[in-house]
Amino acid sequence: MTSGQWTMRYERLAIWAQAEWKQRHGDQPFQLVWASESCGNQLAQSRINEQRRLRNRAHFINVEQIPCDQVIPISEYTVPGRKAVLGESVGAFVFRFGHPAGDFEVLYVSSYYRDDDPNIVAVVLVPPEQLDVWVHFESLCNEVVRRPSRRQDVYIIGGTNAYFKPTVDWDEVILPQSLKDDLRSDMEAFFKEGVPIYQELNLAPFRKLLLVGPPGTGKTMLCAAMARLALKKKRVVVYVSGADDDGASFHKIHHALNVVANAGYPVLLIVEEIDVYLRKDDKARILNVLDGLESPNNPRGALLLATTNYPEVIDERIAKRPGRMDRILFIPPIQDEKLAAQMLEHYMGPQWRAEHGEVVPHLVGQTGAFVREVALHARMLAAHLNRRFVDLPTLRQSISSLSNQLSTGDDLMPRRIMGFGNSSPHGNGFGVADAAESEPAREVEALDE
Ligand SMILES: Nc1ncnc2c1ncn2[C@@H]1O[C@H](COP(=O)(O)OP(=O)(O)OP(=O)(O)O)[C@@H](O)[C@H]1O
Ligand SMILES: [Mg+2]
Repeated sequence: MTSGQWTMRYERLAIWAQAEWKQRHGDQPFQLVWASESCGNQLAQSRINEQRRLRNRAHFINVEQIPCDQVIPISEYTVPGRKAVLGESVGAFVFRFGHPAGDFEVLYVSSYYRDDDPNIVAVVLVPPEQLDVWVHFESLCNEVVRRPSRRQDVYIIGGTNAYFKPTVDWDEVILPQSLKDDLRSDMEAFFKEGVPIYQELNLAPFRKLLLVGPPGTGKTMLCAAMARLALKKKRVVVYVSGADDDGASFHKIHHALNVVANAGYPVLLIVEEIDVYLRKDDKARILNVLDGLESPNNPRGALLLATTNYPEVIDERIAKRPGRMDRILFIPPIQDEKLAAQMLEHYMGPQWRAEHGEVVPHLVGQTGAFVREVALHARMLAAHLNRRFVDLPTLRQSISSLSNQLSTGDDLMPRRIMGFGNSSPHGNGFGVADAAESEPAREVEALDE
């Protein structure tokens, strides 16, 4: 093997760059340094404004991609929201900067180290006296590529974008007012007054709330309504979904924490069904995140809103260890007739009639999802029978048929086994589906210590 065959990629890049520099700038001195791959990233390039001020009274003028016979330019895309955006890319670029002592250029070239290696290698030629300016520019590139854009949209990690939409109005969530007030004021107090207090104590401002409750009580709805409030206040919302082929894996959480740490804005981080992430392999790491060992340090504050159906999750490891979850809020089924009436009236919509009030006592103890289903079914039955209104017998029929279906379902379906301990009241340790969920059933393994 000749040494030529084994010439490392960066050397080829450096040789090319030096020749290119000579053509452009003759004998003007340069410093050859390693560079960050972020500078070639199209997101960074689009997010740094021309005229952006830099250290030493310099400013950024523009960037131009130039041909290079050593590198075929290629990009990667990411899909942070609804649209695909081109991000990481390799190629050769000239960055131009303005400076009181005269404008100057920086020549940058990047490539993949080897075909089978995702790491990018990049070198840059900088006028030696402007190294400080370049270092500042490079750190800006690093910062902006990790930052989600502040859009009226949610940064979704995993799953499909259809899965979570922040379109729920706060008033649409029917729950005890004190519970709603509590949750909302917790978020506001944290972002406004809490963050400086954490900082005073030299702690990463990361607050953690857990919503616990049976299926269908409105936890997802609450998350969507909280997200909407957060977006209105120009906060970034990050939503982690386990509902895709990758399922619930720690790398999603890891990705989310990176986005949170680098967001540059206050962040509401939503992790639904957090129990599913607490599987054997990843459990310790999630607990580290909750304990603060791996938690994100976003100086503007990050609020985790997690949900679970499984009260076992709050056993031992979370509930009895202060600081893992700052607050645990129980999201209950409908607790009284007033809320039941409100829920029924809401879902009956224009079909609501005073006589429907008679069924209200039967709805106490049920969930919002139940009442919605009852109302929809009754309205459909009435429409099918060409009735203009839902009469009381139809509504009663709808309630009893849904109750029957659920109680039969309870007997037929084994329950999902979850939690931190071995102590599951049901089941045999096999992965089983959740009984009352309308989502596709997921396989989840039993947890052991
Ligand atoms: N408190 C509520 N107020 C108004 N509607 C509700 C409420 N709870 C449930 N619903 C209705 O039921 C649907 C399902 O509720 P949601 O998905 O929020 O339940 P969940 O608590 O997240 O359930 P799961 O634990 O199974 O994920 C909602 O989209 C909504 O239509
Ligand atoms: Mg839910």
